[in-house]
Amino acid sequence: MNILVLGSGGREHTFAHQISKSEKCDQLFVAPGNAGTQQIATNIPINVNDFEAIKKAVLAHQINMVVVGPEDPLVNGIYDYFQNDDDLKRVMLIGPSKKGAALEGSKERAKEFMMAHHIPTAAYQSFTAASLEAGKKFLESLSAPYVLKADGLAAGKGVLILNDLAEAKQELENMLANQKFGEASNTVVIEEFLSGIELSVFVLTDGKNYKILPTAKDYKRIGEGDTGLNTGGMGAISPVPFADEAFMQKIEERIVKPTINGLQKENIDYKGFVFIGLIKVGNDPFVIEYNVRMGDPETEVVLPRVKTDLVELLEKTSLQQLNNSTLEIDERAATTVMVVSGGYPEAYQKGKEITGIENISDSIVFHAGTSEKEGKVVTNGGRVIAVTSFGKDYQEAIKKSYQNVEKLHFDKMYYRRDLGKDLA
Ligand code: AMP
Ligand code: GLY
Repeated sequence: MNILVLGSGGREHTFAHQISKSEKCDQLFVAPGNAGTQQIATNIPINVNDFEAIKKAVLAHQINMVVVGPEDPLVNGIYDYFQNDDDLKRVMLIGPSKKGAALEGSKERAKEFMMAHHIPTAAYQSFTAASLEAGKKFLESLSAPYVLKADGLAAGKGVLILNDLAEAKQELENMLANQKFGEASNTVVIEEFLSGIELSVFVLTDGKNYKILPTAKDYKRIGEGDTGLNTGGMGAISPVPFADEAFMQKIEERIVKPTINGLQKENIDYKGFVFIGLIKVGNDPFVIEYNVRMGDPETEVVLPRVKTDLVELLEKTSLQQLNNSTLEIDERAATTVMVVSGGYPEAYQKGKEITGIENISDSIVFHAGTSEKEGKVVTNGGRVIAVTSFGKDYQEAIKKSYQNVEKLHFDKMYYRRDLGKDLA
């Protein structure tokens, strides 16, 4: 079949890489893609939120399956757009309906869903500009640190964790009264702070059946020792060493099953990935957030460990036959190190020539913010390249990733050198 992957990051290059290995894939397209996807697929220069242009491309290239990488088109209703179009109905679209995508698109909705289905999460209340004073009172009733979350999508920046009550009140006011995050902060969720170690669990579901994919942990902060600004993710490790069988059992029983059952009970069409951000408090898992897509850079370590034909899994997902598939996982550990542009996640320059990619061996190079210019690969984003390696454990894998990252070069290249050290 002909397959289109929507997106342009390391996640999408990884999807394309895995899909291109499948015998079921005839022609592969990525929109808009990057310099890496260009080597294994045909890039189509369209925006992931331009549904009409996507429709044209799907019809022109006789696409049978669309795999949606990022959350925006899902939250904007791309699944429903396909379902409601006579020409597109027949196309398998991997991703939830708009109603399902609201689990990521609205933090308040996600909280209501978890409460309705008894899924463990931090206690919370939500507020709008009209209830600002009540919000401040609620903050007074809590103890530090204070967790404030903009309800809507805010490019990963909408969560504030503050130690000072006065500052928390001020930020609540900035969000609600002064639209600190634009419309995304018209509603703010204030929740109890949970203290523990984080991990992510990935589930592929057809809305009825599910498969739990390998766990992963990403490194969000720009600086070593988890310091500095939040990024999209500076690297990842899979599996998470502390997620043993007993803990995974708790996650499946208390979180995964009620989540899938909840989708069914609420008649939510959901044929795609659920990325569950968890925190381990003592020995118990709590949900921090749902994402309705795979993570980036978690995909770069999760998908390479999936040995089952990815296209077959996605096809079964779309046909609601996931119960008829077996998931085979590579027992080895996988790590990825993200190489970024100096300055990221703040201002950075683009267009720097990247050298050394051809010297990398025994690791997989996933392109993120790259493009091709006059036959050269140049930087085109904050996160530039993810170098993924396998090993008998994460220590061995990470060593390989670092050895290969050192072969890369571009002006002001930066990466964290401490990945995995927190787990030792
Ligand atoms: P989110 O965008 O909801 O994933 O939040 C971003 C980050 O904020 C998470 O990855 C956690 O590190 C942190 N966080 C969110 N909610 C809480 C909470 N209730 N307690 C402690 N940390 C939190
Ligand atoms: N790495 C975090 C995310 O994809 O949201």
